[in-house]
Amino acid sequence: MSKPRDRLRIAVQKSGRLSEASQDLLARCGLKFRQSRDKLFCFGEALPIDLLLVRDDDIPGLIGQGVCELGIVGRNVAQEQALDPARAEPPFVEVRELGFGRCRLAIAVADEDSYAGPQDLGGKRIATSYPHLLGDWLRRQHVAAEIVVLNGSVEIAPRLGTADLICDLVSSGATLAANQLREVASILDSQAVLIGARQDYADERAELRELLLRRIDGVIRVRESKLLLLQADPSRLASVLAALPKGDPATVGALDRPAGRLSVQVVCHEAIGWAHLEELKRAGATQLLVLPVEKMLT
Ligand code: PRP
Ligand code: ZN
Repeated sequence: MSKPRDRLRIAVQKSGRLSEASQDLLARCGLKFRQSRDKLFCFGEALPIDLLLVRDDDIPGLIGQGVCELGIVGRNVAQEQALDPARAEPPFVEVRELGFGRCRLAIAVADEDSYAGPQDLGGKRIATSYPHLLGDWLRRQHVAAEIVVLNGSVEIAPRLGTADLICDLVSSGATLAANQLREVASILDSQAVLIGARQDYADERAELRELLLRRIDGVIRVRESKLLLLQADPSRLASVLAALPKGDPATVGALDRPAGRLSVQVVCHEAIGWAHLEELKRAGATQLLVLPVEKMLT
């Protein structure tokens, strides 16, 4: 059992694909840290929530050891460690999808090599930093291949002759293209996820965790949300409402002038393009305004 604590610790990647967006998310949640970007530990000033800047692969373990309560990692890292056969049960759970850092773990072969399906991988040597995810996928495909574990520069293994093909993260595809490799199968869709300890806390941390989760949910919802304002004649109201993007129920009010005219406002949870505004105009809407939403608490 860990000692009662009145501060929460959250671990994020110190430098790498997720670090900037992770820290940006926490800033949007109102968290402020005493500046020490080059250090491991950042003291939380706005709330009793501290930040740990570490290697992404260390984050699940830090949660398992009870060093921190929450962490932001790629699902690829979380799933890889969750599948580690050395562990009975992963010491963490996925708490939220965060919607950034999207990429996939994919099998890639040399440009000139053919690939007709997983059966072509039988007996091949596959270089990867994700042996458990790859092993799990190969088993499900009933394919026996050799997994060559590399911790970095996986993409040059085929050229060096240390493997026949690779299984690595692909985001833009630029790394594969630069190494004359081509993606043939995706084995995991990944994005940044918030992971947390399995247990509940019997101290202040329980409430801090709930508070942070509520703010994260608000930030995620706000990202795509827009406030749409428009006016319409009562005779056109039904057609305007029918043309609104999916969202929360609209608020309809009466305008002072011109008398009888209605004002409509609605929060939409999807992008509103020009074509959609034009459709609303044809339905009878005028004075259309689309405004960004800054904060939301529901
Ligand atoms: C991954 C992967 C590739 C690159 C792919 O590395 O190993 O090198 O990203 O991205 P692309 O398709 O946009 O070119 P990452 O940046 O996560 O670093 P790491 O493997 O050292 O953690
Ligand atoms: Zn890494």
